[in-house]
Amino acid sequence: MKIGILGSGDVAKSLAAGFIKHGHQVMLGTRDAAKLKDFVDQHKGAQTGSFADAATFGEAVVLAVKGSVALEALKAAGTQNLTGKPVIDATNPIADAPPTNGVLKFFTDLNHSLMEQLQSAFPDAHFVKAFNSVGNARMVNPHYQAGKPTMFICGNDDTAKAVVAGICDQFGWETADMGKAEAARAIEPLCMLWCILGFTKNEWTHAFKLLHVA
Ligand SMILES: NC(=O)c1ccc[n+]([C@@H]2O[C@H](COP(=O)([O-])OP(=O)(O)OC[C@H]3O[C@@H](n4cnc5c(N)ncnc54)[C@H](OP(=O)(O)O)[C@@H]3O)[C@@H](O)[C@H]2O)c1
Repeated sequence: MKIGILGSGDVAKSLAAGFIKHGHQVMLGTRDAAKLKDFVDQHKGAQTGSFADAATFGEAVVLAVKGSVALEALKAAGTQNLTGKPVIDATNPIADAPPTNGVLKFFTDLNHSLMEQLQSAFPDAHFVKAFNSVGNARMVNPHYQAGKPTMFICGNDDTAKAVVAGICDQFGWETADMGKAEAARAIEPLCMLWCILGFTKNEWTHAFKLLHVA
């Protein structure tokens, strides 16, 4: 697939490297392509452009920007360039405030997720929450003795979720589909839970797994 990635940070680069490893074509969108020069030099096939270039390029789009500027980045990407496409939303609504005893602060509340805000601002794009509650170093083909970790996803469009489940499968995850966009209210705070071990114990390598009775 052709994947447009909105972002130049660690998540954008980790996922871009994963897509390239699995044979996809990638364009990363940024306001400043100079930030990605080393990455492009080290990853054959990686291209850069503006947010709009990357959204236009992608058959699927990855949103990997700071949560508080997600709407702004999507506006720069262009409504028409997102229409009908899966938008893999890896963002978290982390507030610009320090954690308390390792617990991050969000600028959303439990009954209003960031992804729902994005979905209602861009109704013709097909948002799928994914990759928000694992560290970027373990997003692509992580190895755990307990087996595959679980990627919790949600979104309103089943076709878009099937695309994302296929990507998760390639990237070595089992997918747990939690339903429609409202489920992002539960998936986004998994980031808070995940980060507590990081901030309090300096452990950043874990991932979540959902266990079922056979
Ligand atoms: N870091 C992780 O391991 C991790 C794991 C899971 C989820 N996440 C989530 O994934 C997202 C990306 O995280 P990250 O650590 O890779 O990067 P980040 O530092 O949170 O965000 C960097 C990106 O935000 C964009 N940005 C900043 N201000 C902007 C503005 N005013 N307008 C448009 N874009 C702006 C930057 O665009 P330019 O390129 O134009 O500067 C850059 O691409 C976040 O929402 C984070 O919560 C992070």
